[in-house]
Amino acid sequence: MENVYIHIPFCKSKCKYCSFVSYPRLEMKEQYLNALEKEIKNSYKDEALKTLYFGGGTPSLLSPYEFQKLIKLFNTDNKTEITAELNPETITQNYLSELKSVGINRLSFGCQTFDDNILKIIGRRHGSKDVENAVKSAKNAGFENISLDFIYGLPEQTRNMFKEDLQRAVSLDIKHISLYGLKIDDDCFFGKNPPKNLPDEDTQADMYLDAIKILKENGFEHYEISNFSKKGFASRHNLNYWDNNSYYGFGVGAHGYENGTRYFNTSDLSEYIQNPTHHKHSQLLTEQEKLEEEIFLGFRKMSGIDVHKINKNFGINFDKKYQNILDKYVPLKFLLKTEKGYKLSDKGILVSNVILSEFLSEV
Ligand SMILES: C[S@@+](CC[C@H](N)C(=O)[O-])C[C@H]1O[C@@H](n2cnc3c(N)ncnc32)[C@H](O)[C@@H]1O
Ligand code: SF4
Repeated sequence: MENVYIHIPFCKSKCKYCSFVSYPRLEMKEQYLNALEKEIKNSYKDEALKTLYFGGGTPSLLSPYEFQKLIKLFNTDNKTEITAELNPETITQNYLSELKSVGINRLSFGCQTFDDNILKIIGRRHGSKDVENAVKSAKNAGFENISLDFIYGLPEQTRNMFKEDLQRAVSLDIKHISLYGLKIDDDCFFGKNPPKNLPDEDTQADMYLDAIKILKENGFEHYEISNFSKKGFASRHNLNYWDNNSYYGFGVGAHGYENGTRYFNTSDLSEYIQNPTHHKHSQLLTEQEKLEEEIFLGFRKMSGIDVHKINKNFGINFDKKYQNILDKYVPLKFLLKTEKGYKLSDKGILVSNVILSEFLSEV
């Protein structure tokens, strides 16, 4: 396996919309990093890595030395894409220069919005200026491959405000943008205390379509449902997931995929630290489940699914097996025929949950 995800589960405080595995328990960092090292040494087989991804939580709570210690556990070279997710408020130019010198070559900043009022409402610890400064510092430190995350459908957000967010992002001349529609799970602050003035579903859909238009006009390729990049800057790490290939997942709450088996680590920090080499749960996928994942993940890519590959790998006739669904959605132009197979159109993405659930219920 040539791709590794490492989860850093610490945040200074919890954003009001967030349900990711993260805890304001920085005093546990040292113990956690020791446990992580044990887990990695126990299962990593020294393969040369194509990608290494530090996600969170807030990986920027690690020192450059702590990153270096983890990176050194792996067989990487200067072609390995090494990404760190960073929160804008904790960033200095000096810190970024040190991250560069330990081998990190791709940065993903959680911006969410440039509207300072909304940033406060959603419990972010940074202001819009912090993001602009972080991007400038990253460039000064020699980083070219910089990504920003945005959320649309935030409380108080209008279509125009989101358009302005994107224009401001574009003006920073970055290479990659991820856009996520706000999702509120029951266990986050907003799940228990619903915020006022959330844009309705139609407005959220319009925001998404506006974004596709603005980003395409500004030279971004829409390569995955939530991701846009300048040519040559698609996330190689995430493409590996959507191509349904194997990967290691290390750390609390992390999951991995190896030889048709998905495994999941516990989300309980103390439990993980006590026993980092134990997978809480493993699932050997059936052929049908593998096929479903191939379709589900493949349609996330804007290039769509490769029918020839699917037919060959699963011994099926895709067009015949899914004829009812294709006959319904191709004429409506929700699904488009491509050279290799099928892909979702922009309006198809808006109803992708419905379309994909039909593929998944077809046995
Ligand atoms: C795993 S988070 C970690 C990033 C980093 N800690 C930060 O917040 O800056 C990656 C991204 O997921 C998105 N995200 C997190 N919770 C979300 C939610 N409830 N709805 C939509 N997007 C969400 C945010 O854009 C966030 O930057
Ligand atoms: S959004 Fe990022 S910073 Fe906020 S709690 Fe979640 S992981 Fe932490």
